[in-house]
Amino acid sequence: MSAVVVVGAQWGDEGKGKLIDVLAANADTVVRFQGGSNAGHTLVVNGKKTVLHLIPSGILHADKTCLIASGVVIDIFGLVTEIQNLKATGYQITGTQLQISDTATVLLPYHKVLDQAREKSLSDGKIGTTGKGIGPAYEDRAARRALIMSDLFDTPNLLKKLEFVLKEKNSLLKNLYDVPEIKAQDLFDQIQTVVEILRPHRLSDVSLLISQKMKQGKKILFEGAQGTLLDIHHGTYPFVTSSSTVAGSGSVSAGIGPHHLSKIVGVFKAYATRVGSGPFPSELHDNIGAQIQKEGHEFGSTTGRARRCGWLDLVALKYAIRLNGINSLAMMKIDVLSCLDEVSVCTSYKLRGEVITDFPTSTEDVSQVEPIIETFPGWKVDITQVKSVKDLPLKAMNYIHFIQQHVGCPIDVISVGPDREQTLWIKPLYNN
Ligand code: GDP
Ligand code: IMO
Ligand code: MG
Repeated sequence: MSAVVVVGAQWGDEGKGKLIDVLAANADTVVRFQGGSNAGHTLVVNGKKTVLHLIPSGILHADKTCLIASGVVIDIFGLVTEIQNLKATGYQITGTQLQISDTATVLLPYHKVLDQAREKSLSDGKIGTTGKGIGPAYEDRAARRALIMSDLFDTPNLLKKLEFVLKEKNSLLKNLYDVPEIKAQDLFDQIQTVVEILRPHRLSDVSLLISQKMKQGKKILFEGAQGTLLDIHHGTYPFVTSSSTVAGSGSVSAGIGPHHLSKIVGVFKAYATRVGSGPFPSELHDNIGAQIQKEGHEFGSTTGRARRCGWLDLVALKYAIRLNGINSLAMMKIDVLSCLDEVSVCTSYKLRGEVITDFPTSTEDVSQVEPIIETFPGWKVDITQVKSVKDLPLKAMNYIHFIQQHVGCPIDVISVGPDREQTLWIKPLYNN
């Protein structure tokens, strides 16, 4: 097995960062393949917390290669801050350790300004974006007017490119949103302050490097961002992000054939959360929702916003399994549910009087469904120090077995706390 893909199987923040950090110990290379600094991936090692936005979550392992592939939109100033913050806490971050595709999209301050101005101008229908410029950056890529990473190093032509792109952006910002114009020369000068920091991390061909590594039998780990229900094509459109978050997107972004993606790991929380707007069928608006939010510290790693909380939605999870081809599940944060007398899951929906078991493709329908709930007794004991699956309480195991049975996919990993060490293996994902 050469490539393992880790994707979010809900609405993001499932704990992908933690799982990647754990799995990276047995991999050679970690590849981040989509999204941008809208992501916030939290790693905890011996109680010390690190939040990453663009840098792959394998970076705390000094001997691993971390690649940022073509499908990522890179806020270059944010990335440099992330590199510097890691260096300040004692990590080296060499040019071999972190390598960035020359063809990845550059996200610049005007993308953020536009993202925030658009959201501000909406009264109804706000997406609730992270304000990190993700939508505008992907728009530019699709419209073939984005700067890509290699443009940053082409100094003689960079100013001309900025002038071209800013002509349209300034007109939009000024006329539609009354935002002051951005001067090409100022942006050019600002870019010069980070170019030399980024140069050692430049990689012309991510696809070639991965292919060579795979031929040598090295293990490649793909790191997804956001979650399946936020996918631009298959999520609850328009309340989605602007990239394809599903596993297949890893193959497209890194430039490797889809057949190499042999193991697709879906990460999900033992309950559900969502940040920003959009339908959330199993959302709880009561004290239990508030209790889960408090116990689970459900506040965004990127924006600090409170995450909406609800019961685990098995209709949505089955949909994620199908869209990604998930053949292994990792259940995170089951320790958070230890505080509850009873634990419920959503097993199907009722829509216009009929019971349905498949996730509707219409967002309007998703917003109208009523969740059908099944309830289990809670286990009410602290499980954060449990070291082996066999030591989990029977009631927790019953809950886990029910989910596995219902969705028809094995749960191979159970996480009982934020730290690397708080990870229980039912079946190793790498055989070594
Ligand atoms: P990501 O975006 O999918 O990487 O997830 P985030 O980092 O945004 O959010 C997950 C949060 O849950 C972080 O604060 C993690 O430290 C924390 N976390 C991860 N796994 C567990 C777990 O099993 N139990 C608890 N209590 N917290 C966890
Ligand atoms: P990680 O990788 C949770 C949500 C935003 C908003 C929608 C669109 O940490 O799981 P965007 O800024 O992407 O245009 O916002 O998507 N969103 C996330 N929610 N986790 C994330 O990333 C998210 N990235 C974007 O809240 O609803
Ligand atoms: Mg997150």
